[in-house]
Amino acid sequence: MTDLIKAGLEDVVISTSEICFIDGQQGRLLYRGYDIDDLVVHSTFEEVVYLLWYGALPTRKELDAHVKALAASRRLPARLIGILKNLPRKTVPMEVLRTGVSALSAFDPDERDNSREATLRKAIRLAAQMPTLVAAWERIRRGKEPVAPNPRLGLAANFLYMLSGRKPTELEAKTFDVALILHADHEYNASTFAARVTAATLSDLHSAVTSAIGALKGPLHGGANEQVMLMVDQIKEPARAETWIRKALADKARIMGFGHRVYRVEDPRAKHLRRLAAELGRQAGNTAYVGILDTVARVVTAEKHIYPNVDLYSGAAYAIMGIPADQFTPIFALSRIAGWAAHVLEQHAHNRLIRPRAEYTGPTQATYVPISQR
Ligand code: ACO
Repeated sequence: MTDLIKAGLEDVVISTSEICFIDGQQGRLLYRGYDIDDLVVHSTFEEVVYLLWYGALPTRKELDAHVKALAASRRLPARLIGILKNLPRKTVPMEVLRTGVSALSAFDPDERDNSREATLRKAIRLAAQMPTLVAAWERIRRGKEPVAPNPRLGLAANFLYMLSGRKPTELEAKTFDVALILHADHEYNASTFAARVTAATLSDLHSAVTSAIGALKGPLHGGANEQVMLMVDQIKEPARAETWIRKALADKARIMGFGHRVYRVEDPRAKHLRRLAAELGRQAGNTAYVGILDTVARVVTAEKHIYPNVDLYSGAAYAIMGIPADQFTPIFALSRIAGWAAHVLEQHAHNRLIRPRAEYTGPTQATYVPISQR
């Protein structure tokens, strides 16, 4: 491999974008110029979706119409529920989401229309339907009937309601809403890049999102928060955390929830998720998860100089709310649909096929040998 080739495209800038800015040295993350530190305090997930898709904060009237459109689009076609019921119960939720999003395309009235207006209509439907899909699968795999969406609840609260059948507490709904805000976009991460590559062939939103979900599924990307909670389960109690993590580092293990391709400091999303996980834990009488993770963070940061990323504390918050670990990555997707759709819209607006090259290092003079002579 020549020195010119950056393994994993590290630091390679492949196009301009007006959606998201990451300062990896200072640990800042902006959506359309707005700092996430402000958005988590003042905004809601629905408003952030508007900001990412339309490029500006909405007026009250615009936000009300947007929230209403999202709430009105939550129901799944009955035949889609039928597809879910026919899947093997052991199917992992991320596979169900990938299959379900792909199938939703067949029911979408704008399936063949790739205009900006149609893509926005599809984006509203997908962002509204994906939470229903994820919650429906949780119910179906437990042998229960899906819970119908409640249009009077916001997107975050309604998801938690459809998952468990009980209305969430204010803190649970707020925590979940903030988690959705924090995961909404992150520039050219692997899944968004996958979405843009697909969109750049002039393929449609559902295809781009299906590609993105496939990329998000891997443990180096969206799958990390599930792995973090598997680690917490192995550690069991805060008193065991230091010995456990020192041994893992000595064994050269990759510690999930740490490190980042872009951030050289702590991921700015991690502190918000830590605060919320700690608050939820205090309320629920579970301080062990955050206690374990704090010790792990202290040791890993001191020993390896790598810092917590968004995935370190999110799983703890979800687990305290009673959400199963294999639903953490689908939850990531319920938020990231905001960014994926914004990037598909931007790609279509200034499109050129994304088609890089490889430096060929294989043979060039091979002589074909008929199969009978091999
Ligand atoms: N645990 C232990 N060592 C690590 C970790 C980690 N989590 N992350 C990086 N390192 C070390 C590597 O061993 C390597 O050390 P070396 O140079 O001595 O070999 C060095 O740091 C660079 O690591 P790379 O894997 O080359 O860094 P890259 O930029 O390719 O990877 C990644 C970034 C995939 C996020 C990596 O840090 C990682 O695997 N983290 C754990 C998984 C994770 O938490 N992913 C979620 C990321 S955020 C998101 O996608 C939502």
